[in-house]
Amino acid sequence: MVKTVGVLGAGQMGNGIAHVFAQFGYQVIIYDIAQAQLDKALATIRQNLERQAKKGAIAESLVAETMGRIRSTTEMSDLAPVDFAVEAVTEFEQLKLEIFRKLDGIVQPGAILASNTSSIPITKIASVTKRPDQVIGMHFMNPVPVMKLVEVIRGHATSDETFARTSELVAKLEKEMAVSQDYPGFIVNRVLIPMINEAIFALYEGIATAEDIDKGMKLGTNQPMGPLTLADFIGLDTVLAIANVLYDGFKDPKYRPCPLLVKMVNAGHLGRKSGRGFYTY
Ligand code: CAA
Repeated sequence: MVKTVGVLGAGQMGNGIAHVFAQFGYQVIIYDIAQAQLDKALATIRQNLERQAKKGAIAESLVAETMGRIRSTTEMSDLAPVDFAVEAVTEFEQLKLEIFRKLDGIVQPGAILASNTSSIPITKIASVTKRPDQVIGMHFMNPVPVMKLVEVIRGHATSDETFARTSELVAKLEKEMAVSQDYPGFIVNRVLIPMINEAIFALYEGIATAEDIDKGMKLGTNQPMGPLTLADFIGLDTVLAIANVLYDGFKDPKYRPCPLLVKMVNAGHLGRKSGRGFYTY
């Protein structure tokens, strides 16, 4: 039975993942190379828990209880006792491969190693470990405490037992699962990123203003955010990284990232997190 969960990476996704596991009773150890990032993640988790308590979504006492279940560390070796690990570091293949190689040598045998990757092949990640049958994709959506979906991706070697144990965890977190085969972008980003990229092309070609593109999609198709607002929310560097995974993975020009997206990332205009993207924050 899973009691202790390791979370690797204390960014936007990592803090949300640590939040929900701790909220539903798991002991959580969150790891990042930067202490400042860990401090920021813990502050964000507390803020989001307080927001949930204020709205009456969770009991007031759960804020302190949940925080009490989270420990942070800058030493990956502290993850040795976890029963389940979720990696949520930056979306770069070489970095993920390096982390899984190292993690595999640290975490006790029998523990499942999951990746929150939004697009990198699980089969490839699994191949650098000595337990490819115990590696799986567990893709949470942002903001993690709010979004109902977890995409679960079976790699080529993922065992039925690993899949069953991961499905159980999704249910324990009171989330819904959509199961995908291991092909670039899985389900959600296969459909979402081309839509966002097309919205950027529409802006690039002068079809309409950013405001009108978003208004059209938001009010015309009942999406909670327009595609350019959503791109700023996800982070333009992440959107570009996923677009490149689709483009490289399928070798199909229909997935080519819009030059405007590339230029904005080069300029460091990454959306909400950098204060500037399609909009100013
Ligand atoms: N933690 C806890 N609660 C949060 C939260 C957080 N981080 N962010 C928002 N909330 C809560 C709010 O407290 C509020 O609660 P109530 O409904 O109880 O009042 C609720 O969520 C709605 O929030 P807001 O009122 O602040 O604002 P909103 O109605 O505009 O909703 C949103 C915000 C939930 C983010 C909504 O705009 C939305 O659903 N946007 C689309 C999100 C989306 O598409 N995410 C997927 C991105 S793609 C991805 O993640 C995959 C990938 O690989 C790129």
